[in-house]
Amino acid sequence: MSQQIVTPFEVKTETNTGVDYSKLVHEFGLEQVTPDLLEEYIRVTKHQPHPLLTRGIFFAHRGMHSLLEDYKNGKKIYIYTGRGPSGGMHIGHMIPFMLAEHFQKVFNATVVIQLTDDEKYHFSKDNECTLDSIQQLCKENEQDIMAMGFDPKKTFIFANTKYMGQLYPNVVLLEKLVSVHKLKTVYGFEDTDSVGKFAHPCKQIAPCIPTSFPHLFPGDPNDYRCLIPCAVDQDPYFRQARDLVARLGFSKPVLIESTFLPGLQGMQTKMSSSDPSSAIYLTDSASMIKKKINKFAFSGGKDTAELHRQLGTDLTVDVCYHYAKIFEPDDEVFEEVAGDYSSGRMLTGEYKQYVYEILQVILEDHQKQKITHFGE
Ligand code: TRP
Repeated sequence: MSQQIVTPFEVKTETNTGVDYSKLVHEFGLEQVTPDLLEEYIRVTKHQPHPLLTRGIFFAHRGMHSLLEDYKNGKKIYIYTGRGPSGGMHIGHMIPFMLAEHFQKVFNATVVIQLTDDEKYHFSKDNECTLDSIQQLCKENEQDIMAMGFDPKKTFIFANTKYMGQLYPNVVLLEKLVSVHKLKTVYGFEDTDSVGKFAHPCKQIAPCIPTSFPHLFPGDPNDYRCLIPCAVDQDPYFRQARDLVARLGFSKPVLIESTFLPGLQGMQTKMSSSDPSSAIYLTDSASMIKKKINKFAFSGGKDTAELHRQLGTDLTVDVCYHYAKIFEPDDEVFEEVAGDYSSGRMLTGEYKQYVYEILQVILEDHQKQKITHFGE
């Protein structure tokens, strides 16, 4: 039996096809994103679902049916997502923000984005990491996130160490309901872990409550419904949030959860900022992207052109295929090129060139947007 670990603190698998997500659906008790749900989404929102939804990247949810019902009945939707600030944001970090930006348009929603500088500090193993240096990273991360196309008039991005005063009343209400015992079982914290770690979950849960943002969501909190796009490793926080927030008398937040973006070396690990040979950063130049893909990207193709043409590509282990699945905007092109690659008509080098071009366009545009909004 191959072992896999998926927690907010560690993602590990031994198989070369990566994390077994159907197993997670079962273990975590998630609902699957099905064709029926997507049809309901189209009926209610009158919008086509984002490719991240139709291609199974956001594969699981908690409560989407009830969110669509609320939206139909005139409730306002707000989107909550976030990130632990770090030096280099990479293309995997874009995924929840891409969906958040889509939802912003579809639901005409306000987006709140939490930068957990406090979390990064408490959970960092590296003693070099000062709180000061992490706070500095929030500015850079904020620019990268805003350059992904959010409407600045309807987007609120905040660092925990700055906004905690406003969040604090809801943190207090939540903390009253949570025992140390529970934190140990849900998150695996131990007696030797710092109080900072134990205190974190309630801080990440508080933004699920509309009254944490009185300047954005005035009036009756029950007029609002919170929708959270995140990677599936964040599920423990928000599974607990749904329970706690309901006990405080508010509507449960709704979750939509994604797979991980594999690192260049293969499906076994997710892309990691701290390993430059596994990651394509938002700041990488065109030539850097090309070099990394050609040199490092693990391919499911065969060793010689002759064998490849005969046997085709194993897409399940091919990281470039997974990048195209996330970043190719056109469904027809995506299917057609993947078909050619899979059958062996297209060689690994050609497919790598195709994926390089997709990423190059996205990152060039991102870098331009960043300069337009924030200068050099
Ligand atoms: N804990 C997340 C991380 O380490 C950051 C985060 C905070 C977050 N709030 C969130 C992620 C809400 C998704 C949704 O990256």
